Amino acid sequence: MDAPSATAITPPANTHGKKEFVPPGPVPEVLSKRYRIERLLGVGGMGAVYRARDLLREQFGDPEPWVAVKALNDTFAEYPDAHALLYSEFALTSRLRHAHVVQLYGFHTDARCRRAYITMELLKGPTLDDLISANPEGLPWEQFREIAMALLQALAHSHARGVLHGDLKPSNVMMAEDGLRLFDFGLGQSIGDRLPGLPRLSRARLAAWTPRYAALELLDGEPLSAAADVYAAACVLYELCSGHHPFSRLTARQAIRMGQDKTLEPPPRLPRHCWPALRRALAFEQTQRPDIPTLLAAFSQAAPSLLHRVLRRP
Ligand SMILES: Nc1ncnc2c1ncn2[C@@H]1O[C@H](COP(=O)(O)OP(=O)(O)OP(=O)(O)O)[C@@H](O)[C@H]1O
Ligand SMILES: [Mg+2]
Repeated sequence: MDAPSATAITPPANTHGKKEFVPPGPVPEVLSKRYRIERLLGVGGMGAVYRARDLLREQFGDPEPWVAVKALNDTFAEYPDAHALLYSEFALTSRLRHAHVVQLYGFHTDARCRRAYITMELLKGPTLDDLISANPEGLPWEQFREIAMALLQALAHSHARGVLHGDLKPSNVMMAEDGLRLFDFGLGQSIGDRLPGLPRLSRARLAAWTPRYAALELLDGEPLSAAADVYAAACVLYELCSGHHPFSRLTARQAIRMGQDKTLEPPPRLPRHCWPALRRALAFEQTQRPDIPTLLAAFSQAAPSLLHRVLRRP
């Protein structure tokens, strides 16, 4: 079993009472004598995610002993408080219980390599990034709608539980075999004081997020809010149904400078009744954006049939 405390990764005090940081060693073949690393699944700005076999599950004859292990990548692990960031991701995600949010198993430390890591369900499937690349004209409406609803439901649950994602983008959403999963709450935060006691980390210091999905106010250094998640979700949804980013992959600030908000067109495959809510969600001014339940309501209405549209035509 793992050590019950984080002493393995807490820097020891030196003679002046100051903490001396000991950088972690490389990820070993077996973590905490329990998780055998099999292969690297992906590396992001902060973490490295591996497929691993849980030797304990295997010992009990579990036919599905595989898990995903997320540790900090080598560059990030050098930050003395990086493990607090990983713990924050664990604590925030563990507060969520939803079919479309990744399920975490535990937060652990390995005493020998002085690394903290998270274990979670192993997901298999394309990310939304892969789907966007495979569908340059955008997804057909029915397929798009299913994804949009699942993503918005995951976010609605998260916001209702007081958790902001903070880094929503196509590579942080996967279409697993049994449905969509939102993951990577590494830049997440709690809403207001809903979860006191969790470490509050400065986004500005980390600079590990993706600017083209960042709301204007975040670029201006304002704190993360539900409205920023709405902007990011709207960019992802626009990209999914049109095949391209709403503002040509520019940041919100660059898009304003280029006047791109004035020429934004509705994606051709999007039913007309969804556009007003999606357009407002892409507003640079955060007070104009609707909340997630409003977006969800717009996308849950079925598209009017062709006959209906013809009859309503003036
Ligand atoms: N539970 C999982 N099962 C399978 N693969 C996963 C899982 N979690 C993450 N991955 C893979 O690892 C990659 C990196 O994971 P994650 O997004 O959590 O790391 P990150 O460093 O926080 O990324 P970012 O660059 O977004 O900050 C993902 O894009 C995905 O391909
Ligand atoms: Mg990621």
